[in-house]
Amino acid sequence: MERPINATIRGTGSYVPPRIVPNDEFTQSLDTSDEWIRTRTGIRERRHAGPGDTAATMGTLAAREALSAAGVAPGEIDLIVCATVTPDLMCPSTACLIQSYLDCRTVPAFDISAACSGFVYALSVAEQYIRTGSAKTVLVVGAEVLSRVTDFSDRNTCILFGDGAGAVVLGASTDPARGLFNIRLFADGSRQELIQVPSLVTPNPPPGSMALPNLRYLRMNGREVFKFAVTQLRAQVELALADCKRLGKELSLIVPHQVNVRVIDAALEDLDFPAEKVVVNLDKYGNTSAASVPIALDEAVRAGRCKPGDTLLLVAFGGGLTWSSALVTL
Ligand code: UT7
Repeated sequence: MERPINATIRGTGSYVPPRIVPNDEFTQSLDTSDEWIRTRTGIRERRHAGPGDTAATMGTLAAREALSAAGVAPGEIDLIVCATVTPDLMCPSTACLIQSYLDCRTVPAFDISAACSGFVYALSVAEQYIRTGSAKTVLVVGAEVLSRVTDFSDRNTCILFGDGAGAVVLGASTDPARGLFNIRLFADGSRQELIQVPSLVTPNPPPGSMALPNLRYLRMNGREVFKFAVTQLRAQVELALADCKRLGKELSLIVPHQVNVRVIDAALEDLDFPAEKVVVNLDKYGNTSAASVPIALDEAVRAGRCKPGDTLLLVAFGGGLTWSSALVTL
């Protein structure tokens, strides 16, 4: 009898642009302080894209690292899925641009739009292509240039976001002990107004939306998103811990969306999960939306915080509203 096919992580990569923006840079033009930003969010600095950086260029650099870590050549990729809400163009997709920059023949390439949950959504699509035998090797990218949709006169949002990209190469395996499992995706469009990024075709004003004084920029109800994030992060971690217990696996590491250190602390409070097994790098990069989970995952892998056989929880939540989680045994 044929053994079921699992999607395993073969390699990870990431890229952040070199320009570091410390909290102090915002105090020159806004009524804010390094102390407020650090204590209310945990963020010390973030990266901002240079003039030539786009989701596709940064996604390509992250992808090259992931391919090299996996020992996979661009010509071996069967599918490219890119999660982004800050694409270079509305058409063609960022995934198509990455495909051309990597010179990956004519393999299918498309984008996923699920805000900060985008990378886990993209993983779930890739995993199904692999599990059904439609693809053997899939490149999954999360890439964002949020600085280009940030209103730098809005202290509620501009201090939070950063730019960057992360990528993984997924491969087919028949080893039952390894791979992605128990992927969960959710959306609640009735709360769409809590975070919005307009597009070129957004009507003015968008129906049911918050007032958008400038249609270029991201708008967010931070306090409501905060409550939603704590609730869903906690719920996803509880589900994952129960899944692991049932399957006799130990959860080695949680890689959460890098939203706000207070969200992560509040969600995990009383859960009896050691803080040192939670990856937090938002102090360096802020919130990079769809890029945040793959950048954190790549850093954890490269720092030796996880090894083959370890089980990780990837968990994200954001605009849509959307939320998602995936367990993976490396
Ligand atoms: O990936 C999903 C995307 N969403 C997020 O990342 C956001 C999740 N939410 C958050 O991280 C937090 O809600 C924020 C960091 C956005 C805000 O923190 P908070 O503790 O929830 O503050 P708040 O919104 O309740 O505002 C408290 C005060 C307000 O002043 P008043 O009305 O009390 O006078 C804000 O205007 O803090 C003020 N404030 C600031 N003060 C100094 C908001 N931003 C700033 C700032 N510097 N940068």
